Amino acid sequence: MAEIGSDIDKAAAILKAGDVVGIPTETVYGLAGNALNEEAILKIYHVKNRPKFDPLIAHVDSIGKVADLVKEIPMDAQKLADQFWPGPLTILLDKKPEVPDLLTSGLDRVAVRIPNHPLTLELLGSIDFPLAAPSANPFGYVSPTSAKHVEDQLGKKIPYILDGGDCRVGLESTIIGFEEGEVIVYRLGGTKVEDIEAVVGKVKINVNMSSNPAAPGMLKSHYSPGRKLIIGDIVENLKSHDPSTTGIISFKDIHNVPETNRAILSPSGDMDEAARNIFSALRKMDQAHINVILAEFVPNEGLGKAINDRLRRASA
Ligand code: TXA
Ligand code: MG
Repeated sequence: MAEIGSDIDKAAAILKAGDVVGIPTETVYGLAGNALNEEAILKIYHVKNRPKFDPLIAHVDSIGKVADLVKEIPMDAQKLADQFWPGPLTILLDKKPEVPDLLTSGLDRVAVRIPNHPLTLELLGSIDFPLAAPSANPFGYVSPTSAKHVEDQLGKKIPYILDGGDCRVGLESTIIGFEEGEVIVYRLGGTKVEDIEAVVGKVKINVNMSSNPAAPGMLKSHYSPGRKLIIGDIVENLKSHDPSTTGIISFKDIHNVPETNRAILSPSGDMDEAARNIFSALRKMDQAHINVILAEFVPNEGLGKAINDRLRRASA
């Protein structure tokens, strides 16, 4: 089993030796390895059981280190970086040739991000290479938001998990890139679209729900909770389901099913809290003895857009 601890030197030593480590970020936990070492990258794909056409994000702790990986940093990227890094924003930029094709699945752009977690920033400061880190879940499962989640799912396959507590944001980073100078959002996540637009003006949202391996990005059923999930009016839908074998994910209301079968994202209707709880809610449903999950969309604003996106994918 993986050892869990907060020993940064130990994590650094394992990474320097080409092995992988579970790391905390403010969004979700990552499965990290040396982004410039093909052996380490292969190990990440292998541990996650992830197809190699699905590229990885490179994590660094400074803009200077981003500049080492990319051909140029466009003005809008610089503005967004100044505003949101360290933080839950990933930017796709044209990669330098020395960035391994294995990291980007052969694409011309590399995804880069400065995460905002003190332990991981310290770790990144103590090594001289970027960390490739997808979410630390088996491919096709929900992302982990605690060290325990990582241990439950990947503990047998990795030597160490750096424990940084529960993730503050709870949703993966927002991914953006540029097409003909225009900012495109490829994944809704922890940085609000409204906040990005306040910096660079109107953006285009292109969250393709593709199941085509040739189109990396977001695969259609990426957040599969392992049960059928129906989105709609919960009270209405509950009429045609047996409450004793039905799970419910509601925004703030309590519904009449056993406590073990229900998850309330935020009793006070607070969207940040709902974002922190969405993946634990899906996990709870996975553990419950139910046949079906009834869920509802949250208000489609701010982080609500990303929460609804994850619910939609979980129902696909
Ligand atoms: O918050 C996050 O972004 C977390 C933490 C650990 O940083 N990481 C994360 O990684 O969510 P992952 O691998 O689970 O999701 C990254 C997504 C994938 O859907 C991948 O296809 C896309 O980013 N991606 C990565 N590099 C890309 C590239 N060069 N071009 C297009 N899409 C890319
Ligand atoms: Mg993921």
